[in-house]
Amino acid sequence: MQLQGKVAVVTGAAQGIGAEYARGLAEAGAAVTVADVQTGPGEEVAESLRKDGHRALFVRTDVSDLASVEDMARRTADEFGGIDILVNNAMIFAGLPFESIEDMPVERFDRVWSVGVKGTFLATRVVLPYLRARGGGSVINQGSTAAYHNSPNRLHYNVTKQAIHGMTKTLAKELGKDGVRVNCIAPGAIDTEATLTGVPADVLARAVAGQAIGRQLHTGDMVGVLLFLAGDQSAAITGQTLIADGGVCFLG
Ligand SMILES: NC(=O)c1ccc[n+]([C@@H]2O[C@H](COP(=O)([O-])OP(=O)(O)OC[C@H]3O[C@@H](n4cnc5c(N)ncnc54)[C@H](O)[C@@H]3O)[C@@H](O)[C@H]2O)c1
Repeated sequence: MQLQGKVAVVTGAAQGIGAEYARGLAEAGAAVTVADVQTGPGEEVAESLRKDGHRALFVRTDVSDLASVEDMARRTADEFGGIDILVNNAMIFAGLPFESIEDMPVERFDRVWSVGVKGTFLATRVVLPYLRARGGGSVINQGSTAAYHNSPNRLHYNVTKQAIHGMTKTLAKELGKDGVRVNCIAPGAIDTEATLTGVPADVLARAVAGQAIGRQLHTGDMVGVLLFLAGDQSAAITGQTLIADGGVCFLG
């Protein structure tokens, strides 16, 4: 219960890694807001947490829309008394096609960027006064090793994740004086529904074969990384992107 008394917001928590993050934070003692555009699945995640005795709230949120994010933060603070942890996980990932630069509709490029980059910017900006009011907090952005692999036909996704990794460093320097740490997780290939339905099986098998740890990574593997960055055990760490890919990419 290392996060007892803390309040966390997880964007994109209606399914996949975000839903698992919400559960991990709740099981560590935090009250959790599940913030997602999908109402049905988002309500279900919050309800299943409440059923298990946790404090959880679903707020329909479009992270690319300022008013929507402001409403979500206000309702979280009204319900739980403040905000200590923000997890910027929302992204257009499920169903995102692999497509060349010439075939990539401009609207899709805009939407991926809007949710990933602008959404991370808006949520961090809106939640910041709430973190300051608690004397500081922890922001964890969801990156990807796609930012390092630069695989072709994935321009929208790759550059969005590269920008999120970059934002992490600038915001860490900017917000450190407020006691706000900003870090990032870069998962490798995780077997969420979005991955299993969107990534061809042979591509996924090659990804696993390229890992030092020769097994498929699961959403549960990411939760410990998140809890470490969310809590005081990582008090000396900010501006870092922690790679959790089973040992494919090595920086430094
Ligand atoms: N699954 C992987 O292998 C993998 C690897 C590296 C990084 N990631 C990243 O992890 C995160 C979650 O991945 P996933 O596999 O669970 O993907 P997913 O597509 O299942 O989940 C994304 C969630 O974001 C929500 N979302 C989309 N647009 C939104 C918006 N405008 N406002 C609020 N919520 C919105 C979706 O409704 C969904 O619940 C993403 O940031 C993804 O890029 C995933």
